[in-house]
Amino acid sequence: MSGAKLQAPRGTFDVLPGDAHRRDRLVALSTKVLEGAGYAHTETPIFEDTALFARGVGESTDIVQKEMFTFEDKGGRSLTLRPENTAGICRAYIEHGMHKLPQPVKLWSWGPFFRHEAPQAGRYRQFTQLDAEALGSDDPSLDAELIVLLAQILEQSGVRARLLLSSLGNSDTRAEYGEELRAHLRAHESELSDEVRSRMDSNPLRAFDSDHPGTRAAMAEAPRLIDRLDREDTTHFAEVRALLEEAGCAYELDPTLVRGLDYYTRTVFEFQSDDLGAQRGVGGGGRYDGLVEKLGGPSTPGIGWAAGVERILLASQPQAEGIHSPVRAYVVVPKPEERPRAFRMVQALRQAGAVAEMEQAGRSVKGQMKQADRIHADYVVIAGDSLEVKDMGSGEQREVASVEDAVAAVTA
Ligand code: HAM
Repeated sequence: MSGAKLQAPRGTFDVLPGDAHRRDRLVALSTKVLEGAGYAHTETPIFEDTALFARGVGESTDIVQKEMFTFEDKGGRSLTLRPENTAGICRAYIEHGMHKLPQPVKLWSWGPFFRHEAPQAGRYRQFTQLDAEALGSDDPSLDAELIVLLAQILEQSGVRARLLLSSLGNSDTRAEYGEELRAHLRAHESELSDEVRSRMDSNPLRAFDSDHPGTRAAMAEAPRLIDRLDREDTTHFAEVRALLEEAGCAYELDPTLVRGLDYYTRTVFEFQSDDLGAQRGVGGGGRYDGLVEKLGGPSTPGIGWAAGVERILLASQPQAEGIHSPVRAYVVVPKPEERPRAFRMVQALRQAGAVAEMEQAGRSVKGQMKQADRIHADYVVIAGDSLEVKDMGSGEQREVASVEDAVAAVTA
């Protein structure tokens, strides 16, 4: 068969050896931070029944209406590549009776997700999310804890992001407020964009998200949900805020914060980075106290977030410690009989946390120095008659007395 050149599908990308390292480091950093707070690694399938997302994420959302990769299997069942993680985690919580475990159940995951969006910088059709969820308690300390954990991961990854925070209250408050907002939108119908007008009844909150000038002007005078919260939700939100302040976690109140998923109740938040283009959201989440019940489980509160791995890497500053490479060393072996010492040298460097390789292809010393350049070695250790360490940045070369001294010079 001949034909057109085969390429990765639109909106997808290959992770090549040069890119993989920072991704792996980000996952390692997140594992440490989340496991350190009692979150346990969990994996759910990459495809699920379409009904899970239709019910879980919400029929009126962009995700369900336009962005799902849905297909029929050979048995005629409708399946969908997961566009997000929360619905799958709630399904697993119900299916495995996790409500019988001591609560809250704290879980974290990472993996690929799929949305059929128009590709652009930071927006892909297959992307990677880090995700953390806590089910079975509505304690405000969980809201604050999860927010602080994401703030720490972002900070240690070198991402500068603003934290936007709001509360959506409970479903009754939202329903009443929805009516009030619809009435406001109807009164300003002629000023609204076509899209907002067509969604006015199904999803009036999305009007706050519009860039359309007329809509924006109408929304500036709109009633705000945050002013309509009942006493319990107001107290809950005040506690979340007090705990964030206790933890020194800066936030901005944004009563117009709209998240693109329907399941949220009470606390919602988003970290946005101005170092990204149009796709400013690096990570976000909130409470979903009605979701488990909606999916057929017992009434169970829950809260969580997801952050985009690709967006974190795009927004991260190069000098950040957390996700950037450890020092890299190349051991040059001028003569084959010096191989044992070179081999010992490599093991010692690796044990000390450096990335280390040695000559393994019979190159000349000149060829080995070239190879060291090719792999972007920070240091070259020349294991010849004497032991020498060359700093590839400054070009400075000096003799050291022992393998231990060479390790110290490289990893200092
Ligand atoms: P989300 O805001 O839809 O929330 O997605 C979370 C993050 O995933 C975004 O902030 C962004 O970094 C990344 N992301 C989303 N779509 C794309 C895309 N097309 N390309 C690249 N990155 C993308 C959720 O998914 C919720 N499940 C979060 C949550 C968990 N809420 C409660 N628990």
